[in-house]
Amino acid sequence: MRLDNKVAMITGAGSGIGKETAYLFAKEGARLVLTGRTAEKLEKVCKEIRENGGKAIFKTGDVSKREDMDDVVNTALNEFGKIDILINNAGINKDALITKMTKEQWNSVINVNLTGAFNCTQAVVDIMIHQGSGVIINTTSISGIYGNIGQANYASAKAGLIGLTRTLAKELGKKGVRVNAVAPGLTITPMTSKMPEKILTIMKEKIPLRTLAEPIDIAYAYLYLASDEARYVNGAVLSVDGGLTI
Ligand SMILES: NC(=O)c1ccc[n+]([C@@H]2O[C@H](COP(=O)([O-])OP(=O)(O)OC[C@H]3O[C@@H](n4cnc5c(N)ncnc54)[C@H](O)[C@@H]3O)[C@@H](O)[C@H]2O)c1
Repeated sequence: MRLDNKVAMITGAGSGIGKETAYLFAKEGARLVLTGRTAEKLEKVCKEIRENGGKAIFKTGDVSKREDMDDVVNTALNEFGKIDILINNAGINKDALITKMTKEQWNSVINVNLTGAFNCTQAVVDIMIHQGSGVIINTTSISGIYGNIGQANYASAKAGLIGLTRTLAKELGKKGVRVNAVAPGLTITPMTSKMPEKILTIMKEKIPLRTLAEPIDIAYAYLYLASDEARYVNGAVLSVDGGLTI
């Protein structure tokens, strides 16, 4: 039980990496507040966790709207009285070459991936400072480290998250709040299911481990950083990418 007595808020918890993280954290004893855009998906995840003896509630919301995230945090406080862990996992991509990228594609990807993490962090940070403890984990990407063709918006947002992580680690460390990032490589989720099979095969050949990640591979990285085992890890960017450098 590596997260016994901990309360964790996970964004984008209805699918992919967020969903797998919810299941793993529940098994490790955390009480969960799940958020995302679609009630049916979140309800299904909560139901499965409760059927297996875990504790989970959900509140729908859009991470790009601060008032939605305040509602999620208030729901968490009413139910559990505290928040120990925030996983800023929600994300979207809208790929296009820079010559074709629309302002909408740029703005929406920045708003969800980068401003979303800012909103959620601001919604919980005073609580964590008051508690004198907390862990924030931002989900960046291999694209945010190396850049990626067709992802000027996504790579910029994910690179921004690294700046946010390192800055908050410096601002909040003395308050007992650790801030780290996880940088997944290509992971089998609804996000990558849109990619053509041909591209995935080419990418696989470039990955030293010759396989894509499963959502659980990323969830284990979140678990380590969220647990007390990582009590001296602050401002780190943990790559989980099979050794790929795109
Ligand atoms: N799959 C990959 O290869 C990969 C690689 C690197 C990084 N990531 C990152 O991992 C994270 C999880 O992605 P995933 O691969 O599990 O894909 P996913 O599409 O299954 O999960 C993303 C989740 O975020 C939610 N979401 C999107 N916009 C939202 C909004 N405005 N408000 C609230 N929730 C919103 C979606 O509903 C979804 O549940 C994302 O931040 C993504 O950028 C994924």
